[in-house]
Amino acid sequence: MTVLVRSFAKINFGLYIGLLRADGFHDLRTVYQTISLYDLIRVSVGRGSGIEIRCTNNEPRVPLDSSNTCYRITELVLCELGIKCKVSIEIDKRLPVQGGMGAASSNAVSTMIGLERALKKRLPPDVRLRIAGEVGSDLPLFLVGGTALGVGRGEEVYPLPDLPSLPLVVVIPEVGVSTPRAFAEWDALETPPPSKSTRLTTSDASDRLIQVGWLLSGWLTGSCFSGSPNTGAPAKGGSRAGNLLSDLVRTGIENDFEKVVFPKYPELRDIKGALERVGSKFASLSGSGSTLYGVFGSLAEADRAASRLQKQGMKAVATSTLTRHNYWKRIFDC
Ligand code: C5P
Repeated sequence: MTVLVRSFAKINFGLYIGLLRADGFHDLRTVYQTISLYDLIRVSVGRGSGIEIRCTNNEPRVPLDSSNTCYRITELVLCELGIKCKVSIEIDKRLPVQGGMGAASSNAVSTMIGLERALKKRLPPDVRLRIAGEVGSDLPLFLVGGTALGVGRGEEVYPLPDLPSLPLVVVIPEVGVSTPRAFAEWDALETPPPSKSTRLTTSDASDRLIQVGWLLSGWLTGSCFSGSPNTGAPAKGGSRAGNLLSDLVRTGIENDFEKVVFPKYPELRDIKGALERVGSKFASLSGSGSTLYGVFGSLAEADRAASRLQKQGMKAVATSTLTRHNYWKRIFDC
């Protein structure tokens, strides 16, 4: 049996990096948001054994061996279900590799969902989440979809009230950014000189994440009940999307990765500037990059901005954010 699954991308509204933990991961805080761009994953099961991965567009940066996230999750799902069969996974790659849009993580979650359907089995939600977290920090968010708070190393996800569908322009640069390398560069930037007390630094980093929690919570409650975050009273006048744009700008949420990625790849800082010049209300790197996005006031504005950026030689795509309801509605609707 063969199942076709959409594998949607994500962006991050703000990303704050905290302490390097004993397990080698960093504590972080972010707001994940699924968007309408996607890869397609075709999962087939049959008699025999073994896992075969193919990439229809021959993208050389997609590994076809056991290091592929789709391979790893298939092994874990089959082991959990106690099933032996042959699994073929075909990846129709449209999203950028090393793009900061969670494509490899999303591909793996779509494989798990497709495999369950192909085998006519269903794992309990907590088991799905555990397996997803074992394969990578960004996977569990794709079991939630829509707007989600990410804490811990990013694998601890909490569904948030969905933000309205927002028009976006996504710019996909030629260059890819390695996430582990970007984290290592963050550590090099943040490591205190030997004279500073480690205890003080540790507490600074934790305090910062607590403050960031308040900032994100203030932004999100401000966006849902714009203008009255303390009372929860609904905003007077103006669309929720319009309010959200001004909230984003006013709060000034940031992506820490910009501090290490922009100095290394100045062209990415230039793309952020270009997004702002064509009218984006809020522009940012997504994850560790290299993708950048800008939020626009309307789909027509996003379309016009994407055309202008394309004329400047950029790979720019007009799209929109994807609510949790539409994420789950469209996942099998290929
Ligand atoms: O979990 P994932 O496979 O996405 O992580 C890839 C690498 O990125 C990790 O091995 C680690 O070096 C780094 N990472 C980190 N802190 C996180 C997430 C990832 O240091 N919160």
